[in-house]
Amino acid sequence: MENIDKNRVIIFDTTLRDGEQALQQSLNHKQKLQIALMLEQLGVDVIEAGFPISSPGDFEAVKLIGENLKRAVPCGLSRAVDKDIDAVRDALKNCERYRIHTFIATSDIHVQDKLRKSFDDICEMAKAAVMRARNYTDDVEFSCEDAGRTPIDHLCRMVETAIKAGARTVNIPDTVGYTIPSEFGNIIKTLFERVPNIDDAIISVHCHNDLGMATGNSLVAVQNGARQVEVCVNGLGERAGNCSLEEVAMALRTRSQYFGGLYTNIVPTNIARASQMVAGICNEKVPPHKAIVGSNAFAHSSGIHQDGVLKNRNTYEIITPESVGFKENNLHMTARSGRHMIKSRLNALGYSDDTFNLDEVYRRFLELADRKGEVFDYDLEALLFFTHDMQEQTQFALENLNVMCGGKGVIPTASVKMTIGSETITESGTGDGPVDAVFNCIKRLTNIECKLLDYNLSATSEGMNAQGQVDVVVLYNGRKYYGRGLSTDVIESSALAFVHACNSIYRAQIIEKEKEQGQAPHGEGFIGKDTVAQP
Ligand code: KIV
Ligand code: ZN
Repeated sequence: MENIDKNRVIIFDTTLRDGEQALQQSLNHKQKLQIALMLEQLGVDVIEAGFPISSPGDFEAVKLIGENLKRAVPCGLSRAVDKDIDAVRDALKNCERYRIHTFIATSDIHVQDKLRKSFDDICEMAKAAVMRARNYTDDVEFSCEDAGRTPIDHLCRMVETAIKAGARTVNIPDTVGYTIPSEFGNIIKTLFERVPNIDDAIISVHCHNDLGMATGNSLVAVQNGARQVEVCVNGLGERAGNCSLEEVAMALRTRSQYFGGLYTNIVPTNIARASQMVAGICNEKVPPHKAIVGSNAFAHSSGIHQDGVLKNRNTYEIITPESVGFKENNLHMTARSGRHMIKSRLNALGYSDDTFNLDEVYRRFLELADRKGEVFDYDLEALLFFTHDMQEQTQFALENLNVMCGGKGVIPTASVKMTIGSETITESGTGDGPVDAVFNCIKRLTNIECKLLDYNLSATSEGMNAQGQVDVVVLYNGRKYYGRGLSTDVIESSALAFVHACNSIYRAQIIEKEKEQGQAPHGEGFIGKDTVAQP
């Protein structure tokens, strides 16, 4: 086994797998790559990039992330079945180092009612899966799904079996967030007491937050010997979410003495940006009261508290906002700012030169600055995601639009001009409101008759001239597609979001056609996100 300092707690991030599977809409592979590169800068040790067998998109994303990580270990998830394990290997085989994470449920309710097998069968499947994965890579992790509700004798037997078969990391998930810290700590302690080969693997934990115990359970686990914690940025994840990366990292850091010197490789000053980026890309706002990264996490409201903080910050602040990377932005980015300023701002935000196209970003920055005046960091980052997205949006592009609405008896009417392939066409139409009228025009222009399921408008920066971000989810041929638009004009943001979704539908149609003709990568064997029960 690799020699790891016994006080180091490995941070295994599953924002792109457990976190992503809980989102309303899937992320595209460029968005995933952007998050993965940021996680690497944050100091995450292992990045679970996806579940390759679940869809061609996930397969490609895991592959792309594996090819681009320099330090963090890329990992893909698989059920304990051959084709899943082979899909992870296929996605990551070109990486110098990679991890296969295979899992099977071990609790009575899952074994009997979900898998309809005996525990002996499950042990055999786990053993075979780990051995198959070990043929491909030394770095194999095995998870006992629903370990929190697994009878301890069964759990001990399963952990011993997995380690004997070659698992280097054995994960003990509290899949349904059922356990209480003292109870979960005891499970980990018992494993260390009773599993004879336990020192041959790293014990990991993966706690869900259904009862709000995820961070507490993870911390008590490390006090009892676990040395890997599985986390998501902002605590994203199935249902109530996973253990939050920032909470574990900052608890271990802030209370280092209490935890006997345990530490992680997380760079605390990158936490705020990671949180904001994940919130922005995933369109999952951070609750204001969220520990460490919420907008209220460092705000002091009551007079007594304010008085105390003014006299000595430590009276009511156990960590400073600066220590997790919240800082005043003193740089004013306006239309007078040069390319160099934008480049150095992006670099300061953690983007290396090879992750963006400066010409394109700068062109779009000037367009925005002309319309908006001052551009903020958050705008710039949003612009960067759009530069990435734009590279994919080749079929449909919005040229301009006009709307007429308001007043009694006026029927909202829109006229939309778009480039469709190499043609530029204009279409007019009416609707229940100006946005509906615009969407009706776009549907006719693109010939994509999709149904709007969700529409969300939010401001991505402060002040009167903030940019309005529109996120839409549409349904087309039984599948959901996501689109986002950003502009200082909310009708334009809406149109851009709808066009974005239409481009995704268009690309999906092309992939479908290629699959039918046998050209798409791994056209066969995918289980499909809509049809498989995600872990
Ligand atoms: O919650 C869970 O049990 C999981 C496993 C796949 C690790 O996500
Ligand atoms: Zn999980």
